[in-house]
Amino acid sequence: MNLPLPPVLVVDDEKNMRRSLQLMLNDEGYAVRAAESAEEALALIAHEEFFMVITDARLGGISGYELLGKIHSQWPELPALMITAYATPKLAVEAIKAGAIDYLAKPFEPEELFHAVARCAERYRLLRENAALRSRAGDVFSLEQIVGESSKMRDLRQLIRTVAATDARVLVLGESGTGKELVAGAIHSLSPRRNENYTRINCAAIPEQLLESELFGHERGAFTGAIKQKNGRVEEADGGTIFLDEIADMGKPLQAKLLRFLEDGSFTRVGGTDELRVNVRLIAATNRDITQAIATGDFREDLFHRLNVVQFNLPPLRERGDDVLMLSAHFLKSFRAKMNKNINGFTASAQQRLLAQRWPGNVRELRNVIERALILETSHEIQPASLPNFAGEAHLQKGHGLAPAPDESLDTALERLEKEIIQNTLEQNNFSLTRTAERLKMTRHALRYRMQKLNMKIAGENGEMAATGHND
Ligand SMILES: Nc1ncnc2c1ncn2[C@@H]1O[C@H](COP(=O)(O)OP(=O)(O)OP(=O)(O)O)[C@@H](O)[C@H]1O
Ligand SMILES: [Mg+2]
Repeated sequence: MNLPLPPVLVVDDEKNMRRSLQLMLNDEGYAVRAAESAEEALALIAHEEFFMVITDARLGGISGYELLGKIHSQWPELPALMITAYATPKLAVEAIKAGAIDYLAKPFEPEELFHAVARCAERYRLLRENAALRSRAGDVFSLEQIVGESSKMRDLRQLIRTVAATDARVLVLGESGTGKELVAGAIHSLSPRRNENYTRINCAAIPEQLLESELFGHERGAFTGAIKQKNGRVEEADGGTIFLDEIADMGKPLQAKLLRFLEDGSFTRVGGTDELRVNVRLIAATNRDITQAIATGDFREDLFHRLNVVQFNLPPLRERGDDVLMLSAHFLKSFRAKMNKNINGFTASAQQRLLAQRWPGNVRELRNVIERALILETSHEIQPASLPNFAGEAHLQKGHGLAPAPDESLDTALERLEKEIIQNTLEQNNFSLTRTAERLKMTRHALRYRMQKLNMKIAGENGEMAATGHND
């Protein structure tokens, strides 16, 4: 990483001292800004970035010690070096107490100064590098994190691998909680850009007026409160990937600017005139019906086509069959370790209940349900009683289960309802197949056949608890 070093700020009320410090430091390759008072220095620090401050102890107005104190409290990461006229241990202690990281007594050798400045430069670089590393390592995404062996999920992983290798733009669609963020992260992590920044912006979480400045940056004075020039996140993402989450929530004026950016990577900071250019790969996602948003005029169709080079459609959890159990086991394992609980799995009836759910909140909802179940469970297996009363909840959202999900066919919706009805009746009858069949006015044989067709697990025949195993 080759990080440019911002200037050092020299504060001294004596013109000659300022000049000689400036010359010495320039000769060593440092950029220098000078201020003749603490007041001026504080104003500069508020607007510009410096890697360190060098101040004389005695200044007109506010003293050097007070300046150190203010810097220390407001910009704790900005190191300051103090220059004093007399070297007494007492003054040195004062300087350090006020927040100086070092002090020099006049007269000093240039080498002493350079040594102290070089240390601060090194420190600055380390801090910046760590921050950059942290922002990259914060979320480590991989394909293995995307749990599921249903054919849809296998295809999805294959598509991620294929698309990651390219620079193609990706639009990730899917209901809330289906794993869009995981997919976006995995694409970046598997791409040739994986060692560069991955920048994520949630367009719905940032007020519209601020979103443009967040994305493209602003010049100083562009609007009230813009006291510093600020780089846009697209600049931060240069060379890497930017993930625009909840893209359908972006307002129309910004959509036009994004369109231009997508055409050639060029943009202008808010309040600026210079045309800047970066090289970023864009991934966008939304859980909204984007076709609908285009139809109502809320989303630009031309922008949609620009974004939609490769489209990922994440299936809702209810269409992933046994993945529900696999995910449940996965979440059980991860929460079990955190909670330090000795729970080994799910009883067959608990599994059946999980399988029969509609999961409007998808994987996120399942995750929460498993976490809660682990908290409630007192035995070594999750029992149905530790799962939420889905049937009761469905009752509350009256008629909800009857409406098909956005891309659900009538047949799939009917199957889902059938499953729910059978599951609820099983529960009401203590999982006795005989009594459930009676209640549903069908033969046991017909019920078993129906459950098999619906991919519902059917238990062994011995005893009341009929639904307790994988074997038929
Ligand atoms: N296939 C999966 N395997 C393991 N965990 C998953 C999977 N899919 C989703 N998750 C987990 O479920 C939660 C929700 O996923 P994510 O945040 O990616 O959803 P989303 O599609 O972005 O939802 P929203 O539209 O609400 O933002 C996360 O904790 C994520 O780690
Ligand atoms: Mg999301």
